[in-house]
Amino acid sequence: MASKVLVLNGPNLNLLGTREPDVYGNETLADIEVKSLERGDFLGLQVEFRQSNTEGQLVDWVQQAQENFDFLIVNAGAYTHTSVALLDAIKSCNIPVIEVHLSNIHQREEFRQHSYISKVALGTICGFGGYGYELALEAAAKILNK
Ligand code: DQA
Repeated sequence: MASKVLVLNGPNLNLLGTREPDVYGNETLADIEVKSLERGDFLGLQVEFRQSNTEGQLVDWVQQAQENFDFLIVNAGAYTHTSVALLDAIKSCNIPVIEVHLSNIHQREEFRQHSYISKVALGTICGFGGYGYELALEAAAKILNK
């Protein structure tokens, strides 16, 4: 049976395509979802994509993830830099996590250079736009097939 990967997206990522295109590019989140599902198919992964602007909703999804999924990919948006709640939820979640960002957060404002998610993620992919999600799926497939 195909391994199942949950991809969680945090606040304002629903605005991709029109939001600061100089920073985040022109692809919409729906475009990234289509490519992620295609890449998942190719890799033998069943991918589910979700987005919420609400911290509590993201925490609920992380808490429930291990019931139905084998792997978690998270772009927590601005909650990356603020959310101890998401950090704690991921700590209690017994499946591996990869952190993704479209932009290279290390080249940006100082407050974006700290990530609570990085403390618990296996690794972070940032700076490759929407393609970063496909790279994260490649890594997930490799780790799950080991
Ligand atoms: C982001 C980077 C965050 O700093 C920002 O708040 C976002 C998007 C990224 O994908 O580059 O919303 O997570």
